[in-house]
Amino acid sequence: GSIVVLISGSGSNLQAIIDSVKAGDIPGQISAVISNKENAYGLQRAEQADIPTRVLDHTEFANREIFDANMIRLIDEYQPDLVVLSGFMRILTADFVRRYAGKLINIHPSLLPKYQGLHTHKRAIEAGDSTHGASVHFVTEELDGGPVFIQASVPVEQDDTPETLAARVLVQEHKIYPIAVKWFMEGRIQLQDNIPHLDGVSL
Ligand code: GRF
Repeated sequence: GSIVVLISGSGSNLQAIIDSVKAGDIPGQISAVISNKENAYGLQRAEQADIPTRVLDHTEFANREIFDANMIRLIDEYQPDLVVLSGFMRILTADFVRRYAGKLINIHPSLLPKYQGLHTHKRAIEAGDSTHGASVHFVTEELDGGPVFIQASVPVEQDDTPETLAARVLVQEHKIYPIAVKWFMEGRIQLQDNIPHLDGVSL
């Protein structure tokens, strides 16, 4: 099966998925890595893994709808079974989300539904939370609001800064995202009426 990964930056989650595909854990291949930033380090990660890379610079498009329409045209060249957002920092239009509904996933650095949006680690520390974590969810029209199907939690330490907490969460992200992609490519995860099902059991 064909996987397309969208990035904007480091692509450390992309790397985890690349490694998992290489290890033979995921039945499928990454057909392309597409970035909206030409200087995204994740593009180098893809090149080092001989994965085709494309750049679609959103500043070259008049508006979000035109950018997304071009992104769709580009993605569909690869006929993906799954579109994976890995540190992709663009809000996608409803048309885009609808087109890939049920095969568009994202990883968010919080225990959703807590802390949708940005600066999640800082917010968890300021709230005095004792646990924090990451969530993989299907992307819907609600930003960071789609149905979650795998999470990992980490303790928040007394002396944590947003950076130390983010680093602890990222370790877990790199574990759960490849599992999420594996389950999807194995056909074990399905979205039915906006409810994720694993092996037919609703989550
Ligand atoms: C990570 O915190 C991830 O949760 C969020 O973007 C950050 C960077 O991800 N989606 P990556 O290293 O670019 O995969």
